[in-house]
Amino acid sequence: MKIESLRVKNFKAFKEVKLTNLPAIAVFIGANGTGKTTLFDVFGFLRDSLQENVKVALQRRGGFKEVITRGETAPIEIEIKFREDIGNASPLVTYAITIALENNQPVVEREILKYRRGERGKSWHFLDFKKGSGMAITNESSYEDRQSKEEREEQTVDSPDILALKGLGQFQRFKAANSFRKLIESWHVSDFHISDARGTQEAGYAEHLSMRGENMPLVAQYLFENHRDIFNTVLQKMAERVPGVSKVEAVDTDDGRILLKFQDGSFKDPFIARYVSDGTIKMFAYLLLLHDPKPHPLLCVEEPENQLYPSLFSGLVEEFRDYASKGGQVMVSTHSPDVLNYIELKEIFWLQKCDGITKIQRASDNAQLVELAKEGDLAGALWKQGLFDGVHP
Ligand SMILES: Nc1ncnc2c1ncn2[C@@H]1O[C@H](COP(=O)(O)OP(=O)(O)O)[C@@H](O)[C@H]1O
Ligand SMILES: [Mg+2]
Repeated sequence: MKIESLRVKNFKAFKEVKLTNLPAIAVFIGANGTGKTTLFDVFGFLRDSLQENVKVALQRRGGFKEVITRGETAPIEIEIKFREDIGNASPLVTYAITIALENNQPVVEREILKYRRGERGKSWHFLDFKKGSGMAITNESSYEDRQSKEEREEQTVDSPDILALKGLGQFQRFKAANSFRKLIESWHVSDFHISDARGTQEAGYAEHLSMRGENMPLVAQYLFENHRDIFNTVLQKMAERVPGVSKVEAVDTDDGRILLKFQDGSFKDPFIARYVSDGTIKMFAYLLLLHDPKPHPLLCVEEPENQLYPSLFSGLVEEFRDYASKGGQVMVSTHSPDVLNYIELKEIFWLQKCDGITKIQRASDNAQLVELAKEGDLAGALWKQGLFDGVHP
């Protein structure tokens, strides 16, 4: 499953943006405050809306009036198109919601999930809800059969700020809704902070690396105990990717923790890396994240270059590419031209603010950049030369 396009209207600094033909890896650049984090948060907003409801998702962001683009009254709109494998077809599915304020309460004005049979068939609305009630098609499984007619069922959800996707997406028979729901629920953003990861972690249990990475020792422990082969791969990759670390060994201690021995020293406590450099720890964290036995279908990573030595960037980008080639989609924000040197123009989007409103352009839509890249210039070098109009590293 892969997201192919995203259209957002009236969501914070995005009065109207549209990203099409999204690649498996998309890299976002732009000055502070242009909206890179906001873009990732569109998925966070959807996830909160699904796990709770739209009202809570808005409240977590300061309420409707903070979320809607300043000066706008029109509804918030989010539309995502994704490619979904259903049987032997992979239709382009559209999920769209419109959120407005009614009597000072947020309501889902419209929620649609639709796709068409073949390139030209009429699109079927598998979900079509207005303010908490609507209909769903119940015979999605016979959709491929060209003779079949849609069978509908009226449905309601408990309140007009609850997404139908939350309810119907739980049922296997609503295939596209079910898998889109899973995609949004397992979306993950990584905003790794060394200081958090170095803090002492209470005993506990964690399978997935948290947003800021503070549970890193627990995730390492989990992999060590339950997925030793993956854990060994991570150790081996550390040795390959981080110069100076020629060997990493893990040893069980008597009190049940793991002790990591880097080539030139050994560290106790879920490898509190008191003696290990920031770059080493950060690379280790990314390797854990990217080797998660249950990878996130959509992974957003904030500024991975922080605290990492530039010599590690190419390896890290390779790891992102590996992850993407196994089916995970990756979105990265960066301020580093050195990172951009390993990224292709069609994978780069740049954000720029004009009068408080963000525009997003794709590097491969710029003829001059394409020309220079053909001659062998790397994207980061072009960025440094100021050729990404208005956006300077
Ligand atoms: N409701 C809104 N309308 C317009 N702009 C907004 C709104 N809410 C926040 N912003 C702006 O969005 C920006 C936040 O951008 P952010 O996503 O943190 O940028 P980046 O991650 O690129 O540094 C800030 O400049 C803020 O003023
Ligand atoms: Mg940011």
